[in-house]
Amino acid sequence: FHVDTDPAQAQKGAYPYYMLKEIDEQPGVMRNLIKEYIAADGSIKIDQDLLKEMSAADRLYIVAAGTSYHAGLVGKELFEKLVKVPTEVHVASEFGYNTPLLSKKPFFIFLTQSGETADSRQVLAQVNKDGYPSLTITNVMNSTLSREATYTLLLYAGPEIAVASTKAYTGQIALEAILAKALGVHNNVPTIKDFDVAGELTKAANGMQELVDEKSEIEKIAAALLKDTRNAFYIGRAMDYAIVQEAALKLKEVSYIQTEGFASGELKHGTIALIQENTPVIAIITDKRTAAHTRSNAQEVKARGANILYIASREVATPTDQIVLPEITPLLSALVAIVPAQLLAYYASIQRGYDVDKPRNLAKSVTVE
Ligand code: G6P
Repeated sequence: FHVDTDPAQAQKGAYPYYMLKEIDEQPGVMRNLIKEYIAADGSIKIDQDLLKEMSAADRLYIVAAGTSYHAGLVGKELFEKLVKVPTEVHVASEFGYNTPLLSKKPFFIFLTQSGETADSRQVLAQVNKDGYPSLTITNVMNSTLSREATYTLLLYAGPEIAVASTKAYTGQIALEAILAKALGVHNNVPTIKDFDVAGELTKAANGMQELVDEKSEIEKIAAALLKDTRNAFYIGRAMDYAIVQEAALKLKEVSYIQTEGFASGELKHGTIALIQENTPVIAIITDKRTAAHTRSNAQEVKARGANILYIASREVATPTDQIVLPEITPLLSALVAIVPAQLLAYYASIQRGYDVDKPRNLAKSVTVE
């Protein structure tokens, strides 16, 4: 496989910016992952030795930075809900100094688009010194983190050029889902049969395609909601809280709008003081257990003048929600919910006159601690 170095893939073609091209490539990334990892009979093509080592562990530790960390937050839900294995997610730069008490048999998963992030490398060096097994999930074959971990799984997403990560995030989540399925089957978890990973990733691909095909709608929403604002908030609960953290990072890093992603129940413990007339608040609602609560939190800020944008799954949407997401299992709602958020960030940046591919002060790969 040589997608990493294929120069044709790295060309922008008709696209004005790589970020838009990479957002559009996400359905293809889902299909590549199905092709690389799932056989026609539904069995998963992942090294049995890796699954054996993971299944011998009593706890998984996901270590990552930036967007990859946010993909880890979704991974925790997948491993805990589908495979029933306790999973912690850690920011790489914190792990070394604030090392958690490790379980007896830890297994480490490094999520990293580039495979070169210095903070993650430092944690892996310590993990190797301590003799613990590890897996790197990366987009770059032969990258440092790939070479130094016990096992590697590749994302096959093709080169990601824009500084703001998009297709690596959805690729990482999809691959975590495939790995969770394989581990669940390996461990004989009874409920894993109900999780049709190929079917769900196909739904994700189709849903993403529907959303990118409607990008002109999102462009209009961005112009109305985000063009002139100084700050903005994303809110959500449970899985939607994991998603809004990534949605907020996307918006802030390319548009320079000060954006925070909050657990919607936490708003009233301080942040609601920042809500003024016309402050944009974007609610992501994909989980029926928490939908009513997040809607009532949105109403609270609306009463204080906020402009609310609802991004909701079809199953929990109301007729006035502006963006309705295609159907997918709630465990993988991030795969579709993030697409409008990526597009809102992209258009907000362009409309405000910035170079969306090269935001100020940011590097694609951070190789210093
Ligand atoms: C940089 C990039 C981010 C990325 C983070 C982690 O900050 O700008 O897009 O999420 O590094 O990078 P990694 O390659 O380890 O996923």
